[in-house]
Amino acid sequence: MALPEIFKGNLSLPVICAPMFLVSDPKLVISACKSGVVGTFPALNTRPQALLDDWLLQIKTELNEFSVQNPDLPVAPFGVNQVVHPSNTRLQADQDLIRKHQVPFVITSQGNPADIVKDVHSWGGIVFHDVIYAKHAKKAIAAGVDGIIIVAAGAGGHGGTTNPFALIREIREFWDGPVALAGAINDGHAIRAAEVLGADMAYMGTRFIATQEASVDPLYKDMLVESDVSDIVYTDYFTGVNCNYLKASIEKEGIDMDAVAGKKEVDLDLGSTKSWKDVWSAGHGTAGISSIPFMKDLVDELKSEYRQALEKPGFIG
Ligand SMILES: Cc1cc2nc3c(=O)[nH]c(=O)nc-3n(C[C@H](O)[C@H](O)[C@H](O)COP(=O)(O)O)c2cc1C
Repeated sequence: MALPEIFKGNLSLPVICAPMFLVSDPKLVISACKSGVVGTFPALNTRPQALLDDWLLQIKTELNEFSVQNPDLPVAPFGVNQVVHPSNTRLQADQDLIRKHQVPFVITSQGNPADIVKDVHSWGGIVFHDVIYAKHAKKAIAAGVDGIIIVAAGAGGHGGTTNPFALIREIREFWDGPVALAGAINDGHAIRAAEVLGADMAYMGTRFIATQEASVDPLYKDMLVESDVSDIVYTDYFTGVNCNYLKASIEKEGIDMDAVAGKKEVDLDLGSTKSWKDVWSAGHGTAGISSIPFMKDLVDELKSEYRQALEKPGFIG
């Protein structure tokens, strides 16, 4: 196990509640951390940008109070996701607030994290970088990151296309530091399976959208309960970048699925429909979602399944 020091003794499970555009907010982050799961959000979820200051203050204050009142409970550190692609014009302003609040955990995506790593290390924070290919992991390691998040096929958002078995073993050939694995991890059995495969932590997004604390349209949560893998569409039609979407959310906007699938030669008229806001993302893990529990109850269930998985003996021939 290569669990970073900041997580040791502060988690009830080796799980990160992944950052989700237009989904993660202080309520979801705080409920995850109070349950012993690392809560995170994308800095870009705060609009206007200055709201990031308020969110960080709120999260820190509520978690500190909870820790003082519950000294025996594990309270997980929280994290912020920074898109380090040059198109992110807010990067520096957001980083200034992340420095002001000395955020313990930063997740970088889509670019070179070197400058962020240097900055976050100055106050003892750590940086994980998310990748869909081994070559990106090598670059991030060269930039000094503390951990790698492997986003495999079937993950919500801009999921990768590589099989998790293949990708994690490929990355473990050259990296023995912390690894979090993402892609349709939904229950305690899958969390344990990720560890057996070589991960230190499970990185879960879609499952946490179907919780009482997630501030999304209730219809989105219902769709997660009702959908299976065949109801997820991987397409670049809406933004030019491939992403996993709930088919039912595309249909609710009156959009022709044959056009999205490229089976019809028509230009999609998206009108006022906006990707992420009206057309909702989810990963293949939706197949395993059948309830919309409170965060604490979900984490208790994950813990119970994880323990069952730990007790399951392997085959000895
Ligand atoms: C609705 C939604 C929004 C997402 N937004 C982001 C984002 O802003 N930044 C990011 O790095 N990943 C984003 N992701 C990906 C998640 O952080 C994570 O990698 C993924 O959800 C893990 O796969 P799973 O959903 O199958 O558990 C998003 C995922 C979803 C479902």
